Amino acid sequence: MSIFNASRLLGKTVLITGASAGIGAATAILFAKGGSNLILLARRADPLEKVAEAARAAHKASGVQQGGAVVTIQLDVSDRAQVAALWSKVPSNFRNIDILVNNAGSAHGLDQVGDVLDSDIDAMFATNVFGLISVTQLLIKDFKARNTGHVINVGSIAGRESYAGGSAYCASKAAVRAFSGSLLREVVNTPIRVTEIQPGMVETEFSIVRFRGDKSAADKVYDGLLPLTAEDIAEEIVWAAARPPHVNLAEVYVLPVNQASPTLAFRGGSK
Ligand SMILES: NC(=O)c1ccc[n+]([C@@H]2O[C@H](COP(=O)([O-])OP(=O)(O)OC[C@H]3O[C@@H](n4cnc5c(N)ncnc54)[C@H](OP(=O)(O)O)[C@@H]3O)[C@@H](O)[C@H]2O)c1
Repeated sequence: MSIFNASRLLGKTVLITGASAGIGAATAILFAKGGSNLILLARRADPLEKVAEAARAAHKASGVQQGGAVVTIQLDVSDRAQVAALWSKVPSNFRNIDILVNNAGSAHGLDQVGDVLDSDIDAMFATNVFGLISVTQLLIKDFKARNTGHVINVGSIAGRESYAGGSAYCASKAAVRAFSGSLLREVVNTPIRVTEIQPGMVETEFSIVRFRGDKSAADKVYDGLLPLTAEDIAEEIVWAAARPPHVNLAEVYVLPVNQASPTLAFRGGSK
């Protein structure tokens, strides 16, 4: 079965945080191809609009009749007041959200403990942990009231295994893992599903952000191996969403074939 034609995605409403780039953008386009409607969130309005246009075009080109409606909301998930006001920005015909993809996140720096900037610690926790929790808190009430829903959290290999230089980022992603585990257990007596996607190396703007705009430092992360693409992770997210309602992919750990851990990768090949 092609995931692009999965009838389980047709007409579903999917809210994706961090949809202006990388994994979130690729996920938006794939859900649109599958006939879902989209609520796309990010801080940068222009790239978000471009993703929305690409998703509408992908839906049109797919020939799928249902879904394909897209709204964008400029929103910083780390700002609790903005998250609290989210419902007021969601158009009434998009209010029955079926799937929440908590994807917004970032890493800042590779400094050792003692030298990590407070501003980097704050930024990583505010978005990766507090933002994810705030958005989930808001939507889970609605999911429970309607006795339906799927929360898909984008964690990381960094939440499973720490590495030197990644202290605060690894801690933030370990928090995502812990939070996802608690939620999974809390909704065990409901049809609500909870999935955590744990990617290894994915080539997106992620490393450019981590190295504060230094593209050559970012490129070195992927030296000598073929990293995952944003589309690879989007496929896992959409695959999890398209499983039958009684199937919950609780954790999906996805690595490039030449990566075995955060610090063990075979770099003998070429990209
Ligand atoms: N790339 C990897 O190797 C990798 C590996 C494992 C896990 N991950 C995780 O995958 C997720 C997506 O990362 P990516 O690789 O796609 O990176 P990316 O290309 O840098 O995209 C990150 C997205 O998050 C958004 N974002 C960041 N902070 C935000 C905030 N406070 N509020 C709302 N949106 C925010 C960004 O949009 P704006 O700047 O417009 O807000 C952007 O759309 C992250 O959670 C990351 O930790 C990535």
